[in-house]
Amino acid sequence: MIQVETVAALRRRRRQWREAGESVALVPTMGNLHAGHLRLVERARELADRVVVSIFVNPMQFGANEDIDAYPRTLDQDREKLEALDTDLLFAPPVEEVYQREPAQETRVQVPGLSERLCGIFRPGHFTGVATVVCKLFNMVQPEVAVFGRKDYQQLLVIRRLVEDLCLPVKIEGVDTVREADGLALSSRNGYLSREERSRAPAIYATLRHLAEEIRGGAGDYRGLERAGLARLAGAGLRPDYLEICRAADLEPAQAGERRLVILAAAWLGRARLIDNLLLTLE
Ligand code: PAF
Repeated sequence: MIQVETVAALRRRRRQWREAGESVALVPTMGNLHAGHLRLVERARELADRVVVSIFVNPMQFGANEDIDAYPRTLDQDREKLEALDTDLLFAPPVEEVYQREPAQETRVQVPGLSERLCGIFRPGHFTGVATVVCKLFNMVQPEVAVFGRKDYQQLLVIRRLVEDLCLPVKIEGVDTVREADGLALSSRNGYLSREERSRAPAIYATLRHLAEEIRGGAGDYRGLERAGLARLAGAGLRPDYLEICRAADLEPAQAGERRLVILAAAWLGRARLIDNLLLTLE
């Protein structure tokens, strides 16, 4: 595996691959790789001749009250995991390679509507940071396909919309969430949980599954189900930011009779903010 830090070195390699007629799949990450990320890399391997993984802890997607310095950085271990999966290139740029200007002067990519709901309410500016860096990474790597996890479902929709609206020639592939045996979705933030908090954390997915069963069983008062779900999370000792039953296509609040739904939740446990979701299609 080659590791490069600059766009110039990345482009040189990309040009060679293009001249050889080889396609590229990109897996954008912020590092601290777990089995969920590795599943994305395995999927990328199936989709293209060459696999590029980026590791970049993106300052633009962290709010002023969020501690970017505390975000786990484990580059040496990450490199070993990627090598074991036969990754072709690791792109790990320093901040100055990605952002040349003062934050206030940087060009931004804003996806209205979708970015302003759910996590966007609690993390203002977060999805603009995500959309901007993903757009930059697409322009730097120029992949044919890019792979993202469905655990960050709102992020996945924001990226699909950005690609559509800006006519970017990149296919977006979504990959299912990888879970612990007790249902907890894998996340770099799980590392912040104490043993006691970890024992409560599966309540998020258990609540989503419970609501999905109710809906499959015919319950149609979605706003009432949301209130019940929030109470269930609070009862399990979590501090929910939101729990909503939405249309899977655009994250607008779901109404009875709609068929493709997603139930999404974000909740705090100690200093970890956990998110999860469950997609369901009704007959
Ligand atoms: O999902 C993530 O890890 C990040 O939001 C991403 C897509 C790599 C952009 O920084």
